[in-house]
Amino acid sequence: MKDFPTFLDSSIHLRSIQLTDFKIVYAPGDGIGPEVIEQSSRVLTAIGTRFGHRFSGEYVPVGANSIEKFGIELTNETIDKCLSSDSVLLGACGVAGGAAVKGRHPELAVLGLRKEMQLWTNLRPMKVFESLLDASPVKRDRIDGVDMLVLRELTGGIYFAQPKERRIVDGERAAVDTLLYKESEVRRIVRRAFELAVDRRKHVTSVDKNNVLESSRFWREIAEDVASDFPDVTLEHVLVDAFAMRLVLSPRDFDVVVTKNMFGDIITDEMAVLSASLGMMPSASLGDGAKGLYEPIHGAAPDIAGKNQANPIGTILSSAMMLRLSLGLEDEARAVESAVEAALANGFRTPDIAEETDSTVGTTEMGNAIAQYISSQVTT
Ligand code: IPM
Ligand code: MN
Repeated sequence: MKDFPTFLDSSIHLRSIQLTDFKIVYAPGDGIGPEVIEQSSRVLTAIGTRFGHRFSGEYVPVGANSIEKFGIELTNETIDKCLSSDSVLLGACGVAGGAAVKGRHPELAVLGLRKEMQLWTNLRPMKVFESLLDASPVKRDRIDGVDMLVLRELTGGIYFAQPKERRIVDGERAAVDTLLYKESEVRRIVRRAFELAVDRRKHVTSVDKNNVLESSRFWREIAEDVASDFPDVTLEHVLVDAFAMRLVLSPRDFDVVVTKNMFGDIITDEMAVLSASLGMMPSASLGDGAKGLYEPIHGAAPDIAGKNQANPIGTILSSAMMLRLSLGLEDEARAVESAVEAALANGFRTPDIAEETDSTVGTTEMGNAIAQYISSQVTT
C-alpha cells in the first residue's frame, strides 16, 4: 500500500524508539470477528519477533457476545481498558440482519467506542493490489492505479445527533434521526483531509448533498473556507449520488475524499468492491492523539462465521495501519503490507477474492502465509 502520510504528533515516533512493549486491546466481537482477529494477533506476534517488540494483548467483549454475558453491548470495563491501551483492534459487531439481541443492538458497541475514545476521523484507504486486478468485478482498466483515501467523519452527523427517537406525528407512529453538524466538527475533519492531501496528489473531493440538505450547504461553505488555507491543494465538490456513479466509472479521479458519517459509511462499501472484496479493506479511527481504533470495514458476516472462510486481510491491514499511525512503527507496517502482497502474489486466495480457476485457502492458512512471509522476510 501507499506510504501513509502521518499527521500525528512526532512525539509518538520518538516514543517508539524508547518503548518496545505495546498494550493492545483486542475486541474480537461477533461472527467472523474472532477468526480474523486471531490472524491479526499472529501477524503482530511475527512482527514482534522479527523487530523486537512485545504486543501484550488483552481481550475484551464487545457486541452481541457482551450482551449475552453482561446484558450490554459495551461495558464500562471494556471502555476503560480501551482508553488505557495504546490502541484497539476490533473485529466486528452484529448478528444476522442487523437484528437486536435481547432488545439491544450489538453495533452500538462500535459507535460507543468511537464516541468514548473521541475518534472523529475514520481513514479508509483503497488501493487495488496488482494481483487482484482481475478479481475485482470492475474492469481492470478502470481500477488499475487507483489510490484513494476516504476520510469519514465519525462522531457526529445523523449517527449521533439528537433527537433520535420514536414519536407520534399527525396521530400516527413516526421516527426521527437528526442530521446536525457543528462548525468545529466539519472544520477539523476537512482540515485533516487537506493536511493529508498535501503529501499525496493534492486533490480533495468533498462529498455532500448540497442541492437538498442545509447541513451539506453548511459543510460546503466550511470546506471552501478551509481550502483557502491550502492554496496548493485543489478542492472539488461532488454530490453523493454523482459520486456513487463516478466511483465505479472513473475512480482514478479521486485522491483524498472527505465526507460526513453516513455518506462515508455507504461510499466505502462501494469502494471496497473495486478492491475485489469488502474483506480486503482496513480502517483506522483516530482523534486528536495517537491512540486509535482499528477495524476492517466488513461486518460480522454470521453466514460464514466459524467456517474458516473469512478473509483476514482487512483486519491484518488494519493492524498495519495501527503500527504506522498509532505506534509509529513504519518499517513494521511496511513489513505487514509486503507480506500481504507476497501472499497474494503467490496465489493465496480466500473465497471472496478468488477467480473461477483459483484454488482457495481458509482464514487460518491465509494468516499463516502472511505471518510466515513476515518471519522469513520474504517480500515481493
Ligand atoms: C462500519 C459499520 C458500522 C457503521 C456499523 C457496524 C455500526 O458499517 O464501520 O462501516 O455504520 O459505522
Ligand atoms: Mn459500514
